[in-house]
Amino acid sequence: MNMIELKQVSRCYGTVQALAPLDFSVKQGEFVTLLGPSGSGKTTLLNLIAGMVSPSSGRIFVRGVDITDAPPSARGLGMVFQNYALMPHMTVFDNIAFPLRVRKMPMDEIRRKVKEVLDLVRLPDIASRKPKELSGGQQQRVSLARCIVYNPALILLDEPLGALDKKLREQMQFEIRRLHAELGITMLNVTHDQDEALSMSDRIVLMNQGRVEQIATPDELYRSPRTAFAASFIGTANLISGTVQGSAGQHAIVSTPLGMLRAAMTSQAVSRGAAVKLLVRPESVRMVPAPASSDLALDNAIADGRRHAGTLEDSITLGSVVRHHVRLPGDMQIVVQQQGSRGPAAHARGASVLLDWAPEDCQMILQD
Ligand SMILES: Nc1ncnc2c1ncn2[C@@H]1O[C@H](COP(=O)(O)OP(=O)(O)OP(=O)(O)O)[C@@H](O)[C@H]1O
Ligand SMILES: [Mg+2]
Repeated sequence: MNMIELKQVSRCYGTVQALAPLDFSVKQGEFVTLLGPSGSGKTTLLNLIAGMVSPSSGRIFVRGVDITDAPPSARGLGMVFQNYALMPHMTVFDNIAFPLRVRKMPMDEIRRKVKEVLDLVRLPDIASRKPKELSGGQQQRVSLARCIVYNPALILLDEPLGALDKKLREQMQFEIRRLHAELGITMLNVTHDQDEALSMSDRIVLMNQGRVEQIATPDELYRSPRTAFAASFIGTANLISGTVQGSAGQHAIVSTPLGMLRAAMTSQAVSRGAAVKLLVRPESVRMVPAPASSDLALDNAIADGRRHAGTLEDSITLGSVVRHHVRLPGDMQIVVQQQGSRGPAAHARGASVLLDWAPEDCQMILQD
């Protein structure tokens, strides 16, 4: 069953189309992330579902009920904001108890519920403190506790971890995933952090300029991006422009500044003469030092576009992996990623290197 369903929902502000008409649904129990650059329409989409903003067109359904015109309080949704939005003069207990008091729950039940959620977010001993006596991460967990205390069927999170440092953010990502799994609450999260989206989500809605670029699982989005934007936004992408010349067996033949390259066929129809981009991920590129003496077989491989001679410009160690920047003829730069243990030291800056990759790891992308 769909927890949320949007049918042709859009939103304009004057002449600005913050969100182009969109069809989109979230299944019960799913963890979905809205990912995209600043201004791409993520908050607008979340606010439309929460009822803080009304759509310019389209209808919104929660559990099959049309709630397009319902006020926020009647939608039964929880919302966690980036700035915690805790009430500063109230203790943690009173902050969390607030939504239950509004719902006129008996006091002993309120005490039991507040203790339960504070245990859940692993802050059992801070009920009597004020928000300013807590760290940022603790305040964040209290806002989460206040949100889950009244068992909403759906929680909307707008960059709730944006203000936290990397370590705390990773910890909170883990906590939110745990709560999601334990409580079975449907969650719709907003972030512009690709790592957060990839590590937390069942599905990602990738947004760009008020439009959906792609809706897919993290794995699918990384392995089979449909657009050049999607390829570059998720991970690092080597994109090579080219024109389709034909096919040979399982592969497409594409003419590029690096010569004729073989690429994996896509499920979409591609015609001869079509302008495409070829995507090769850094970890799919093999790099070896170029041999000192000339070699006919190698010259042929280079002429054929099966191997590429270049110059190593830079190597950067990022923990367990090393990233190399290699300059190829035609002023093209290719990023190569290798496991750190496999010796970047062997390659000096300015060294001549040879690159190659399997045609299966070279994907055709048809749209910008
Ligand atoms: N109240 C408003 N009035 C006018 N324009 C608005 C309003 N709210 C948002 N916009 C515009 O709509 C577009 C989408 O904004 P939105 O807040 O949804 O982006 P976002 O993806 O959440 O960005 P960020 O990552 O910076 O939070 C932007 O161009 C923004 O300027
Ligand atoms: Mg926003």
